[in-house]
Amino acid sequence: MVKLDIIGDWQRTHYCGELTQSHTGQEVTLMGWVQRRRDHGGVIFVDLRDRTGIVQIVFNPEISVDAHKKAHALRSEWVLAVKGKVYRRPEGMENPKISTGYIEVMVSELKILNTSIQPPFLIEDSIDVGEPIRLSYRYLDLRRPRLLKNIIKRHLATQAVRQYFSSHGFIEVETPFLAKSTPEGARDFLVPSRLNPGKFYALPQSPQLFKQLLMVAGIDRYFQIVRCFRDEDLRADRQPEFTQIDLEMSFVTEEDIIAVSEGLMKELCKEVFDIEVSIPFPSFSYEEAMALYGSDRPDIRFDLKLKDLTEIFSDSNFKVFSETVKEGGLIKAINVKGGASLSRKEIDELTRFVMQFGAKGLAWIKVKGGNFHSPISKFLSLGEKEALRKALNLEDGDLVFFSADTPEVVHNCLGNLRVEIAKRMRLIHEDRFCFCWIRHFPMFEYDSAEGRWTTVHHPFTMPIEEEISYLPDEPERVHSHSYDIVLNGVEIGGGSIRIHRRDIQEMVFDIIQIGKEEAQEKFGFLLEALDYGAPPHGGIAFGFDRLLMLLCGCGSIRDVIAFPKTQKATCLTMDAPSKVEAQQLKELSIKLDLK
Ligand code: AMO
Ligand code: AMP
Repeated sequence: MVKLDIIGDWQRTHYCGELTQSHTGQEVTLMGWVQRRRDHGGVIFVDLRDRTGIVQIVFNPEISVDAHKKAHALRSEWVLAVKGKVYRRPEGMENPKISTGYIEVMVSELKILNTSIQPPFLIEDSIDVGEPIRLSYRYLDLRRPRLLKNIIKRHLATQAVRQYFSSHGFIEVETPFLAKSTPEGARDFLVPSRLNPGKFYALPQSPQLFKQLLMVAGIDRYFQIVRCFRDEDLRADRQPEFTQIDLEMSFVTEEDIIAVSEGLMKELCKEVFDIEVSIPFPSFSYEEAMALYGSDRPDIRFDLKLKDLTEIFSDSNFKVFSETVKEGGLIKAINVKGGASLSRKEIDELTRFVMQFGAKGLAWIKVKGGNFHSPISKFLSLGEKEALRKALNLEDGDLVFFSADTPEVVHNCLGNLRVEIAKRMRLIHEDRFCFCWIRHFPMFEYDSAEGRWTTVHHPFTMPIEEEISYLPDEPERVHSHSYDIVLNGVEIGGGSIRIHRRDIQEMVFDIIQIGKEEAQEKFGFLLEALDYGAPPHGGIAFGFDRLLMLLCGCGSIRDVIAFPKTQKATCLTMDAPSKVEAQQLKELSIKLDLK
């Protein structure tokens, strides 16, 4: 049994990672974990680690017999306090790879504050560890510098956001977690109410309705860094609980919200990540984005735009094309510069790739020596070939991929294909950060499974005034004052100008088949508030985790969250969710019906 020491009146003087040659000769007191211990004959070297980094500490019997004797027992992840003097390392022993690599601390006194059993993985970034183990032992994973760095960046980003909003006249207001369902398109997490048997709170999918009420209250400029809860299928960029940077403003237009948002992104990128971005960001209407990129969250770090060729091929002898046009479909293509070097096998792989998005095939043409090489070349007339050359600006080395289908399938296929090709051909500069806005989404989309119209953004989004007259009979023609912000192909935020008039709000509820009674029951408080002088207002919410994931250069939002959930929405660290006592259920008037 190792005798543990107490800290007593020892005060830490420095963090390990901050010691440099400028501290040479100083007496220091450090506290931290044993990264590694090396026994070199008479002298023992230990790498001591805290959240700032590692410093080499040396146990030499000539300095302290007692500390040296105790140091023999040290193992990885034991917790130490040491006193010692900073020395320059002997020539030839420096490690220029780390900032403390030119010095070491000769230990005069050692206190062993705690021992550790052997950790399930080494606390080093270079060690590849499976995610289940990392999440089960998150407190050990967080000792590793890469993850810790993200958590610290997150802290700095939070500060920068608060600073930005405070300096622009925004007020941070906390809104309740025990609330009522807000329709953001996901399932709610429900919380039973002991005091109101049979009734449930819903954890907010966003503070949407509260922030609108705050505008009615005259708060004028609100923000909050707020947790949101959505019970939906999880992916690398989705968590059941996640954080939004949420804001709302009164007496504004879309342009005002966009300007405030761009200012925030610019400042955050510069202050915390040292990334320069220029504003204003490019902006596309929803229709433009779909036409050019086949996606409402385009990655614009590379070109590969979609080109509409429907007219050229409307009478083509290639029946796949002409039949598609007859049926009201589209023919679009992307021109991959230098793609002619792709092998048949690679083209077959890409064909299979687009099939998963509903494509029936992927016609292609390679341009080599001025000629077209393609299985479909023989079907194309000279005129079509010439028109194609012109439309796509074809040159030697090009590879053209075609999709002929309904607009939906064409856009889905080519939108995904351009990203896949960019990845394979390394067209994406990982250190580029390209924001853009997608604006004026259709207000409604038809949900054929449910047989009714639903709103594309939430139902509180203002329709474009000039199109309001179409609302009752032709909802498909109506667009909304909505805007999404996209960074490198990831939707990092979305918002809108809101409906501030009861009659328009009721009309929208009506179209999505929320009847008067249901509207009253679910949103009566909002409708009533609109009657009490609601100002014109609008806002946006950013997915803070997604934004951090991209700015920190991570592949998953789990890497910027201290204690994330798994794909199955479990917390492996605490083992949640878990069963509860029968008594607890009884108090909540809940009976389980497990199949
Ligand atoms: P929206 O539903 O678009 O808008 O959400 C805003 C942003 O939050 C992020 N996000 C998520 N991040 C991680 N995990 C999730 N499960 C998740 N779901 C969404 C996305 C998204 O763009 N109330 C409106 C905002 C408004 O209109 O002002 C709202 O919540 O980056
Ligand atoms: P087929 O005549 O079916 O052998 O197809 C000839 C070429 O056209 C093949 O390269 C197919 O992958 C491609 N193709 C078939 N259907 C489509 C489509 N709807 N859109 C684009 N290419 C297609």
